[in-house]
Amino acid sequence: MSDNDFMPIDGWDHVEIWVGNAKQAAYFYESAFGFTRAAYAGPETGVRDRASYVLEQGEIRLVLTSGLRADSEICRWAAVHGDSAKDVALTVPDATNAYRQAVQRGARGVAEPHWVEDEHGRVELASIATYGDNVHTFVNRGEYTGAYLPGYRSDSPNGNPSPGVGLISIDHVVGNVELGRMNEWVEFYERVLGFQQLAHFSDEDISTEYSALMSKVMTDGQGKIKFPINEPAEGRRKSQIEEYLEFHGGPGVQHVAMQSNDIVKTVAALREHGVLFMSTPDAYYDVVEERVGEIEEDWGDLRKLGILADRDEEGYLLQLFTKIVQDRPTLFFEVIERHGSRGFGIGNFKALFEAIEREQALRGNL
Ligand code: FE2
Repeated sequence: MSDNDFMPIDGWDHVEIWVGNAKQAAYFYESAFGFTRAAYAGPETGVRDRASYVLEQGEIRLVLTSGLRADSEICRWAAVHGDSAKDVALTVPDATNAYRQAVQRGARGVAEPHWVEDEHGRVELASIATYGDNVHTFVNRGEYTGAYLPGYRSDSPNGNPSPGVGLISIDHVVGNVELGRMNEWVEFYERVLGFQQLAHFSDEDISTEYSALMSKVMTDGQGKIKFPINEPAEGRRKSQIEEYLEFHGGPGVQHVAMQSNDIVKTVAALREHGVLFMSTPDAYYDVVEERVGEIEEDWGDLRKLGILADRDEEGYLLQLFTKIVQDRPTLFFEVIERHGSRGFGIGNFKALFEAIEREQALRGNL
């Protein structure tokens, strides 16, 4: 039984990232992350003010969009926020209902429900505002057979689709919000979308002197959609969330986590393609086996690739974070493989920082 029966959600639809130069960004996500270009819209398809590239891998759909003129809201976005996720869109059976329910519960409407159509059918769209300048678009594509949306053409300029790197679906999308406002957004997702706080974190904020952040995870009734929300906390050093807010010019998406069924293969392929990951000190692996216990994978492979492991009462997970993917210290990605655990690798916060400190101590700098 879920609390969001008034707001049925089928799953993630897409994440749209507004960037300064979508043509080049698309190339990066295709070449480095193994996405395949599925659709395109721009001047050649009758869209005058923007160019959008739709990339797919497994069930993941990323859309990269840039504006074409100085007065475009997309160009303004890129100037204010840098390259950053604008829209975390959700597939719903009825976008009008989703919009009305959300607005009735206090969400600010951004785009009223409307249908767009072409020879492949029609799609119903509506958008609401969330933290920062971000939106959630509700997409009902039940009556559509085209590649993405009306107005887009199917597009595969590179010929055959990329074999990909084994990324299969979006796991969670994390938002950073201002100091003291996490609970406000937790309450927003409860009220407006009928989400609930994930049981694991019910009364517990993640806050250590190292990580300097607090986080709560909101999820829909079925657990398909997970939105962790972070706010900065006082720490030994400047909070990474504070740094994000400063360079992003306010709240926004911090990272998008994508699932793999074979993280060893996925991370090896991504590294091969030049994707950079946050480095894991060797010292991390000195105690990880003892902390996490038996796993199916080979610890040597994980150590070689820098993959992190964590366990909770339900099982374990493997994960790794990319470095930031643009010059501003804002958006990055996570690769995650779950074996029962529905957590987010909380144990890794502490283990990682302790490992860093052990190495610091070896250098006599602690
Ligand atoms: Fe994450």
